[in-house]
Amino acid sequence: MEEKQTKKVMLSGIQPSGDLTLGSYLGAIKNWSARADEFDCYYFMADLHSITVRQNPADLRRRTLEQLAQYIACGLDPEKNTLFVQSHVPAHTQLGWVLDCYTMFGELSRMTQFKDKSAKNADNINAGLFTYPALMAADILLYQPDYVPVGDDQKQHVELCRDVATRFNNVYGDVFKIPEPYIPKVGARIMSLSTPTSKMSKSDKDPNGCVYLREQPEVIARKFKKAVTDSDTEHCVRFDPAEKPGVSNLMSIYSACTGKSMDAIEAEFDGKGYGAFKPAVGEAVIETLRPVREESDRLLKDKAYLEQVYREGAEKASYIANKTLRKVYKKVGFLAK
Ligand code: TRP
Repeated sequence: MEEKQTKKVMLSGIQPSGDLTLGSYLGAIKNWSARADEFDCYYFMADLHSITVRQNPADLRRRTLEQLAQYIACGLDPEKNTLFVQSHVPAHTQLGWVLDCYTMFGELSRMTQFKDKSAKNADNINAGLFTYPALMAADILLYQPDYVPVGDDQKQHVELCRDVATRFNNVYGDVFKIPEPYIPKVGARIMSLSTPTSKMSKSDKDPNGCVYLREQPEVIARKFKKAVTDSDTEHCVRFDPAEKPGVSNLMSIYSACTGKSMDAIEAEFDGKGYGAFKPAVGEAVIETLRPVREESDRLLKDKAYLEQVYREGAEKASYIANKTLRKVYKKVGFLAK
């Protein structure tokens, strides 16, 4: 315990509302595992967030467990990281309610994700979808993290979290640490293979746009062969996200999987065209994901182990979260029980 307090804290979550994608692996999870020694790390399955959109209950349960297995298979050692399921730690919803009362209607109305998701789910624009960023602020602030690693699309939510925390601190004193978003440069935004101007997303309507972590090699190879390249005439592998979003995205993926620089990749495919490049990216991805798939398949056969991991995770997380929650309850004037 003593030693932990000197380490900086890092926290992030991913919704188990779809299978994990190559985008979340390269942009997020892969980088998380390297930080376990330096930081005190908390990672969770954001199942409370998932139900802002209708879910099939059996699928949600299965994906939550699969996500845990994949976190571990991606290198997040449960001995070194606190891995837990959001709904197992009631402090999230408890602080979420308090923060709802310190988050403004106007602020929430400006969230681009709310606008996007309400356009996509016009028949289910529920209050949870609207107040989701306040719950996310609670997820974060409970653990007093220094850094919150997220993709670009979540930056606005982390900024709102900072605003709400600052507002609360201005009234009650220093209750919350103000966290920094932490956005990795390479792989921060892996784009769809079929529409390279939008983020690779598990909710992509086109199944060819997105590669899943547990997908079979043949399927991955096919998706990369079909990947959209750009309609320019030069047909060369050159990194230029504005003019050549498709090729640049494939280059980012290749770079993240192989560690090669953009210059090295341009040189490697100089004069070879897209016909050689696309399958090479597919192969690099297959080799990167193979150990993850094999290890998560193995872990999913050991339900008792996974249960032990998430139970211990929830216990460790609750201990820290409840400390913050008690402080908040006291500050806002709730009678101690
Ligand atoms: N909103 C995030 C997403 O959709 C998931 C999330 C929920 C999260 N709570 C969080 C991420 C707290 C970081 C910190 O990707």
